[in-house]
Amino acid sequence: MKAVCWMGTEKMSVETVPDPRILNPRDAIVRITSTCICGSDLHLYDGYIPTMEQGDIMGHEFMGEVMEVGSGVDQGKLKVGDRVVVPFTIACGNCFFCQHQLWSLCDNTNPNAWIAEKMMGYSPSGLFGYTHMMGGYAGGQAQYARVPCADVGPLKIPGGLPDEKVVFLSDIFPTGYMAAENCNIQQGDTVAIWGCGPVAQFAIRSAFMLGAEQVIAIDRVPERLQMARDGGAQTINFEEDSVVDVLKDVTGNRGPDSCMDAVGMEASGHSLFFATDRAKQALRIKMDRAEVLRQCIRACRKGGTVSIPGVYAGFVDNIPFGAAMNKGLTFKMGQTHMMRYMRPLLERVERGEIDPSFVISHRVPIDRAPEMYRVFRDKLDRCTKVVLDPWADGASGA
Ligand SMILES: NC(=O)c1ccc[n+]([C@@H]2O[C@H](COP(=O)([O-])OP(=O)(O)OC[C@H]3O[C@@H](n4cnc5c(N)ncnc54)[C@H](O)[C@@H]3O)[C@@H](O)[C@H]2O)c1
Ligand SMILES: [Zn+2]
Ligand SMILES: [Zn+2]
Repeated sequence: MKAVCWMGTEKMSVETVPDPRILNPRDAIVRITSTCICGSDLHLYDGYIPTMEQGDIMGHEFMGEVMEVGSGVDQGKLKVGDRVVVPFTIACGNCFFCQHQLWSLCDNTNPNAWIAEKMMGYSPSGLFGYTHMMGGYAGGQAQYARVPCADVGPLKIPGGLPDEKVVFLSDIFPTGYMAAENCNIQQGDTVAIWGCGPVAQFAIRSAFMLGAEQVIAIDRVPERLQMARDGGAQTINFEEDSVVDVLKDVTGNRGPDSCMDAVGMEASGHSLFFATDRAKQALRIKMDRAEVLRQCIRACRKGGTVSIPGVYAGFVDNIPFGAAMNKGLTFKMGQTHMMRYMRPLLERVERGEIDPSFVISHRVPIDRAPEMYRVFRDKLDRCTKVVLDPWADGASGA
């Protein structure tokens, strides 16, 4: 089959690789109909997260049709022919964390847990296509994928809803929603969201669903700022204005009730700290550039909440932790607990409350993936979200 393989920093390649096979009784094989490039994939593309190996198959946002199920899959939950969206986190359904709905922290799905334990103390769940430290699972930017614990994660999609409307239930819609939920929004609140990438776009719309009165979104890319305004947000261009000052002004000097970092470890910026981050990251001494996290802590009102869906990988420098402590801030973060949100958000799509396809700028054959990584990262061609078609343009499937 065809698959997008990581061959090194900034080197993606569409290769012909062996088709996946059932390895465990609870596996399923899915024939993928749509698969996306995520902001999280860019951290791997740019080589900032360790334990990728040459030839690893990328991708964790995908959907398709079930072709085969293992003998241990409960057929009442999943069977051949079902159309499913697959969440990016892999969860067993039985452990302490799954039982507490903390799906992205499942204890049983990372076969390389020992690597993560060395760095983090305990290991989060396995993830598709996201380093050997997170399980070394082949990803879904391919024609087929092996889906472990297939009777827990995949969400069945009724006929009639096109892929474009539901594929983002695999990650960015639930991620934006959980990030908004983590803002602890009370009726009438002001929420400031750094970033107007795809995750932030869903966070903006979710914040309104959860009762925010005012959402202020921050970026510098014109079409992304426009998309944020289309979703009802006010916007700040961080190249033109001092973000923290503007936020102070528009909240009557009090500051936003919650601040969301939907940018993560590859933030841009202008400060001295940013220059230090950039130099250390270039030398691979540090993994993260935390410019946005610093601004969130500074801008947030006293007693407010900082929500962090943006991915961080390592040890972050120069965090104003004294400010966070003395201002009494609450921090909420994490990889998304997908299975909590997928079904309720599907129901919102079915009811016509939101059409997630608004975020798509490019739908292209998988063969163009290497070029589209660069286009998406560099925000060329007004790119906001790329959906890859694994079967377009005479893909052989062999
Ligand atoms: N927690 C999760 O489960 C989860 C899931 C998916 C993605 N993510 C993470 O969410 C983040 C966003 O993902 P995305 O797909 O939207 O990525 P993206 O790279 O398309 O968007 C990031 C946006 O941030 C903007 N930005 C950069 N520096 C900024 C600054 N100083 N102030 C304001 N905006 C700035 C960029 O211009 C860009 O538009 C990434 O870190 C990604 O890894 C997390
Ligand atoms: Zn993703
Ligand atoms: Zn579990």
